[in-house]
Amino acid sequence: MNEAAPLTVLIYYQNEKRAEEVRSLVARRFPQLTVRAVSARGDAEALVEEADVIAGWGFPTDLLARARRLRWFHKFAAGVDDVVAAGTLPPQAVLTRTDGRVFGRRMAEYVIAYMLAHSQNVPRILRQQAERRWKPFLTTTLAGRTVGIAGLGDIGQEIVRRAAALDMRVLGWRRSAGDVPGVERMYAGREEFHEFRGQCDYVVVVLPLTDATRGLFDDTAFAAMRDGTYLINVGRGPVIQEQALLRALESGKLAGATLDVFDVEPLPEDHPFWRMENVIVTPHMSGPTVAEEVTAPFIENMERFLAGRPLLKQVDLQRGY
Ligand code: GLV
Repeated sequence: MNEAAPLTVLIYYQNEKRAEEVRSLVARRFPQLTVRAVSARGDAEALVEEADVIAGWGFPTDLLARARRLRWFHKFAAGVDDVVAAGTLPPQAVLTRTDGRVFGRRMAEYVIAYMLAHSQNVPRILRQQAERRWKPFLTTTLAGRTVGIAGLGDIGQEIVRRAAALDMRVLGWRRSAGDVPGVERMYAGREEFHEFRGQCDYVVVVLPLTDATRGLFDDTAFAAMRDGTYLINVGRGPVIQEQALLRALESGKLAGATLDVFDVEPLPEDHPFWRMENVIVTPHMSGPTVAEEVTAPFIENMERFLAGRPLLKQVDLQRGY
């Protein structure tokens, strides 16, 4: 590449410490670049027009419309729904996302942990302990139960391997057909969604938010599930219609849910999920950000970018991931 002036890279995280951690990892690896860390909207606004590359999480997407030099926008996340929906990415810029394998191990352990929390009824045990009540009860096993994983990208596939190791029967659902190792049967597309969800004791949602997945889990979807199914959502809140989920939980159609993602985050204080005994709420933390972990694939891609080679994990804007 013919670089007259050094490339300017903007690293954005609202958390200043994290922005600085990532900035220093990138700057150390590429001393020839001008790498800046920003955390406030005002600072991003002041620098956006000079940026050749922006990499961040939660970057104010409206500002992208002013990024006239931008050639590459990278998100330190597996999901890029906010950037795609904003439609503000300048046409000359490519969009990349973080390889799901960065979060996959942690997210798969989260899913296994909360499936076990439901099968062992950990919430009930904690309540009993708080009341010093000695009252044995019968728990269930994951072995022999069916888990359906909706979304079989890098993260979903990590979950498959762990669930299969616990002797669960694993089914999968995704947009397009094709076998996945460890999955007994794959279902594809809206037509097969009904059949998929009717067979599961646990449904795990790892789907990206796209036009095709928004509101996918509605009243009809819940009605078609087995009585007593547990739902775990680590994808995006709006893939599930919250009111329909509330109805399914209140009626006992669903036995319980663990939710890491919501329509509105942080989950408002007065939201009913907070006080439902059969719901476990976690604050969008199943795939946490560890600076070294999220920066590694960005650095690998920066090497490609500087060498003029195609970037990995480029987002297809039509498809949305
Ligand atoms: C987090 O939500 C992510 O998309 O990686």
